[in-house]
Amino acid sequence: MIGSKILATGHYVPEDIVTNDDLAKVVDTSDEWIVAHTGIKSRRVSLRGENTSDLATKAAEIALERAGVAADELGFIIVTTFTPDGLAPSTAALVQRNLGAKNAWGFDLSTACAGFVFGLSTADKFIKSGAYQYGLVIAAEVNSKMMDFSDRTSTVFFGDGAGAAIIAPSEEGVIAAEEMHTVGDERVVHSGRIAPLEKLAANNYPKIDAFAQEGRAVYNEVTTKIPDHIVTFLAKEGLTVDDIDYFVLHQANLKMIEKVAETLGQPMTKFVTNVQEYGNASSAGIAMAFDQLNSQVDLTGKKVLLTGFGAGFTYGSLLLTI
Ligand SMILES: CC(C)(COP(=O)(O)OP(=O)(O)OC[C@H]1O[C@@H](n2cnc3c(N)ncnc32)[C@H](O)[C@@H]1OP(=O)(O)O)[C@@H](O)C(=O)NCCC(=O)NCCS
Repeated sequence: MIGSKILATGHYVPEDIVTNDDLAKVVDTSDEWIVAHTGIKSRRVSLRGENTSDLATKAAEIALERAGVAADELGFIIVTTFTPDGLAPSTAALVQRNLGAKNAWGFDLSTACAGFVFGLSTADKFIKSGAYQYGLVIAAEVNSKMMDFSDRTSTVFFGDGAGAAIIAPSEEGVIAAEEMHTVGDERVVHSGRIAPLEKLAANNYPKIDAFAQEGRAVYNEVTTKIPDHIVTFLAKEGLTVDDIDYFVLHQANLKMIEKVAETLGQPMTKFVTNVQEYGNASSAGIAMAFDQLNSQVDLTGKKVLLTGFGAGFTYGSLLLTI
């Protein structure tokens, strides 16, 4: 056993579709502006009471069924999210209960939109330890509950969804290489800060501030750092971008993905995107995009690069040789 492989994937999105025109009814924006600046036409929004653990459970059930793995065969569950049901118990614990995965432990992993990449990397190490037969990684987000719907610079981006992968030991070691970074900086993107109490009072309860970002700073940071990171990482593996069959990037913004593709000199046909329909589903977007690729294309013999990036600034890539 030298590595781990992705046995199967799945994804789930809430039923309700919110178009740009729908958003324009609650915030000062327009379909024209959103499409021109982000490429996003609609997003799925959880409006029927489904929380992050519910989306995660449904994506996991699909992946488990496709893998032919029973919930009680799972050794561990890692949920990547920055929109957990609550701070405790972990969303992973709720998924474990929902699935009836009675032999699995679980925890949440928080690296914002880069979550799926860091979750897979973490799962890879547990699998390589030889102690586990099957692991489950789910990237799940209900971003809508973190939005300030009067802030048009953020609200127009985000959507809700979940993507899951079942991971297992493999001779070949599908996760061939990785590189991860964190550049600690809370100024550019932040969400979910819980302030300490200022005084004891009957109406005190945890107050979570809404998501906020400096859009231009995010754009500049991503479109300069990420192409450089990809080229440097691949060079370490003796590869260039031309060797990659598919790029699956964090689905932040179509325009940003197009800019990265242009900088890398790669055609958009090699980039998997769902941000147009799903919006920016944070860590779930890349997981859902990988599932869409995995479901539609025979990846045997292909090289796939997963690159996540998000608040932190945290970013990293996994090279999959499938
Ligand atoms: C947010 C982003 C689309 C803004 O594009 P931009 O070209 O930098 O636009 P600006 O912020 O300079 O705003 C341009 C104008 O559009 C307006 N505007 C901003 N958001 C708007 C919205 N949702 N609808 C309509 N107008 C909007 C601004 O007020 C500004 O108006 P003004 O020129 O009258 O002052 C762009 O910076 C971006 O894509 N950033 C990356 C953000 C991202 O992907 N975040 C995900 C984090 S994981």
